[in-house]
Amino acid sequence: MGKFKTLDDLGDVTGKVALLRVDLNLPMADGRATDLTRALAVKPTILELAEKGAKVVLLAHFGRPKGERHSTLSLSLVQGEIERVLSKEVMFIPEVQGPVAKQAIGILRAGDIGLMENTRFWPGEEGNNPEFAKGIAANGDFYVNDAFSAAHRAHATTEGLAHLLPAYAGRAMQKELEALDAALGNPEMPVAAVVGGAKVSTKLVVLENLVGKVQHLIIGGGMANTFLAAKGVDVGKSLCEHDLTDKAIAIMEAADASGCTVHLPYDVVVAKEFAANPPSMRVCNVHEVAADEMILDVGPLAVEALGDVLKTCRTLVWNGPMGAFETAPFDAATVALARMAAALTAEGSLKSVAGGGDTVAALNHAGVAEDFSYVSTAGGAFLEWMEGKTLPGVAALER
Ligand code: 3PG
Repeated sequence: MGKFKTLDDLGDVTGKVALLRVDLNLPMADGRATDLTRALAVKPTILELAEKGAKVVLLAHFGRPKGERHSTLSLSLVQGEIERVLSKEVMFIPEVQGPVAKQAIGILRAGDIGLMENTRFWPGEEGNNPEFAKGIAANGDFYVNDAFSAAHRAHATTEGLAHLLPAYAGRAMQKELEALDAALGNPEMPVAAVVGGAKVSTKLVVLENLVGKVQHLIIGGGMANTFLAAKGVDVGKSLCEHDLTDKAIAIMEAADASGCTVHLPYDVVVAKEFAANPPSMRVCNVHEVAADEMILDVGPLAVEALGDVLKTCRTLVWNGPMGAFETAPFDAATVALARMAAALTAEGSLKSVAGGGDTVAALNHAGVAEDFSYVSTAGGAFLEWMEGKTLPGVAALER
């Protein structure tokens, strides 16, 4: 991990304007946020800057409006949620640059908080247009990025601004980078990675990167079927990407060459139809899946063996569920393995880091999200980090 400045490096910021990039891309239904995790994650940075006497101006995107104003994607819709999370008034600013933004920021007093309009209403945001970034920077004294989950985007407010103003990582960004470094950058070994989810095709680069970095690669979910099929196992009518057989073999060969053990389930839960508690459900050896059955979860013996693998490890990185976890009882393997990881974390023998899309939902479902060492709020950014890519928003802070 490169070096970056944090809020500890700020001097006296009383009355200075902090342009603070946050991720307020909250899931919404009927005008209310259905999950406040991201707003809660940036709360400490907002409050710390306000307490230090800065005028805190929040910059964020909301959805994908593609460079045009859409009333349904205005950040004014999220203003109330932020106020509730912070228990403070937040002034909405309907622009991000120009005279209106300047005037509004001019009204803020030390410790006040403003929220600018959705940065993606302007094409300069996603285009990382230097003139657009300069227009925003003109109203700020320094820049803080607390949006790890948007750091895989080289946009004006996630990357460009860091080149124009003194740039700092916010507390959420700092925590995230430290946790990720402890998981894959500079981890205590042995390291295990759990990679699950439906499709190998969405996680090929993740798998290719991990086999060179971890000692145990545990593959679950629909993805495991593609690997099993590549090994000659008949997976019946399971979800399986047969066109990726060669890739799966190449990944297993690369793992062999670098001393990484790939763990595939040897018993599985199968059913003839995908429904909750289907009567046709049974547990069998992977070699006994019938032509009209599909694999829907990792079996109990394999889960127990995987728990034993985790006991030998010091670090765990987890992305993706082990089975069709939204439908009972195909959540069993995900829940059981997540609980084992949580227990080992509590004992102090394992550092556990999880993130990406369905993963947080799966860990919440298992009731252990709080017990992991760190759970990332990021989706795409977490995956790109697992792919070993440099995230432009992070690189810009590390200069
Ligand atoms: C996310 O929701 O993962 C981040 O806010 C990034 O959003 P994006 O995928 O639209 O860039």
